[in-house]
Amino acid sequence: MLKNEWKNVGRNDLCPCGSGRKYKKCCLKRQTPAAMDYKRYYKQKYDIRLKEPEEVEKIRSAGRLVVSALEDVESMIAPGITTNDINRVVHDIAEKSGALCAPLNYRGFPKSVCTSVNEVICHGIPGEYALVDGDIINVDITYILDGYYADASKSFFVGSPSPEARRIVSASASCLLAAMDVLAPGNTIGDIGFAIQTLAEKRGCSVVREFVGHGLGRNFHEPPQVPHFGRKGEGITLVPGLVFTVEPMINLGGADLFIAEDGWTAITRDRRLSAQFEQTFLITEDGYESLTPYDLSPFTG
Ligand code: MF3
Ligand code: CO
Ligand code: CO
Repeated sequence: MLKNEWKNVGRNDLCPCGSGRKYKKCCLKRQTPAAMDYKRYYKQKYDIRLKEPEEVEKIRSAGRLVVSALEDVESMIAPGITTNDINRVVHDIAEKSGALCAPLNYRGFPKSVCTSVNEVICHGIPGEYALVDGDIINVDITYILDGYYADASKSFFVGSPSPEARRIVSASASCLLAAMDVLAPGNTIGDIGFAIQTLAEKRGCSVVREFVGHGLGRNFHEPPQVPHFGRKGEGITLVPGLVFTVEPMINLGGADLFIAEDGWTAITRDRRLSAQFEQTFLITEDGYESLTPYDLSPFTG
């Protein structure tokens, strides 16, 4: 099952069995390698903390709150609503539920949620802007509940969407679904990026390179990084207990971006539309479980 992991081991690398010794001094000379201790090996080799079932349960609880807040936001989206209104709702839900909004004061981020409108790729800061008919908006919510993070986002239409808005939202939702198809032990992080990039480019869209999915648990951003582009078979092998986000940012035009004066807002260089969907996933023995589950099919067009 973990063919990729054993295949790439060099004589002087850490032994994948987790012993902490060199491969040549350990399982290389055994007839049958010891069972892999993924937990020790992934910590030693990649600084990745695979999660215990108790930790997964806490992320799942935080995830339920994130998904229900996304539903509440979805129902309020309409022309005239400001991004500050969305910030208030997301923040109030946290307060009522004993959760914290992870973005607030994260590396100086000034608000409780990211609201990214039209050509904004991600990290849009809520403010006085009032939504207009035809806009698209990504709302990205991360709560901390009982010390554990869950992170998810959706892109919404405001009023009636333009054909371009439909096309980019459909492409980005489809890209997340394509990624979900390859979430299983034995596949690699590169398989995820390959699935996303292949579909995005088939749809005539481009993939943002500067921002990636990420591990999470007790921290907002932990190893591994999860690029939304790549090659089959490259990168870390997925193993049970791995928890990370996939959050492809897909552009209608080119992949290039710039950061606004506020130091946060990422905007497409050509000012064309960008959309994103994000969920937090757990790799299981036989596939994956979304810890922030919601149905993507309404968005695929
Ligand atoms: N939620 C974003 C992510 O998916 C991170 C936002 S960082 C913030 O990783 F500071 F902008 F909130
Ligand atoms: Co994220
Ligand atoms: Co997010």
